[in-house]
Amino acid sequence: MKRDIPVVPSDASPQEILRIAVGAVAGPVKLACSFSVEDVVIIDMIRELGLEVGLFALDTGRLNEETYEVADAITERYRIPIDWFFPRHEAVEKLIREKGQYSFRESLENRHECCHIRKVEPLGRALSGLAGWITGLRREQSVTRGELAPIELDELNGGILKINPLLEWTEAQVWEYAKERRVPTNRLHRQGYPSIGCAPCTRPVAPGEHPRAGRWWWENPEHKECGLHRR
Ligand code: ADX
Ligand code: SF4
Repeated sequence: MKRDIPVVPSDASPQEILRIAVGAVAGPVKLACSFSVEDVVIIDMIRELGLEVGLFALDTGRLNEETYEVADAITERYRIPIDWFFPRHEAVEKLIREKGQYSFRESLENRHECCHIRKVEPLGRALSGLAGWITGLRREQSVTRGELAPIELDELNGGILKINPLLEWTEAQVWEYAKERRVPTNRLHRQGYPSIGCAPCTRPVAPGEHPRAGRWWWENPEHKECGLHRR
């Protein structure tokens, strides 16, 4: 289904982007939530703006305990239902039986296979029936995210709208908002994890290191995507 992309001023705030984009979508919209500081800031903005936006989360089966804790804290604070999506159990069982628990460390192909089973396939189900989805992507996060727009047509997911309200915000701006609004955040962020994914594929970074250096740390920066944000 082809849609027009709503126009936002180049200096639009995240709240303006959300208001314009969600207002323009003819159908249900949900935030893809990994419970990162970016995503919880967006939840707070959505609530403050009174927008009708749902929430979905992909439970890969390999998330950190701390991520479930913050999910719980978000439910408590905002009373917002979380639609959890899990991988197909047959696909995970086959993968583990054939390749073991850590096949993703052996090759890029294996890593993509695991991300496909645990994230990309469930994402397809999560997006089914939606007219738009919101993400916490920021431009400065990665060399792979330089070309993004605040509102895009997601051709690979049926031409629905993809909304990236925090695209131009820096990490410092996100934290300033989170602190001011006392938004519940993942405590791993305070233990050296600026970016948090699955437990076995994320480690803390040293001061001065790139914020995503701890994600798939054995791979080159241009490979550090799991397939959720293909274009
Ligand atoms: S990833 O592609 O490297 O894993 P990253 O962790 O930077 O992505 O998160 C970017 C955005 O993708 C998040 O702000 C969120 O919108 C979405 N996202 C990532 N992981 C998940 C998840 N497990 N469940 C739902 N959304 C997710
Ligand atoms: Fe598998 Fe790691 Fe991708 Fe998680 S991030 S789905 S554990 S390869």
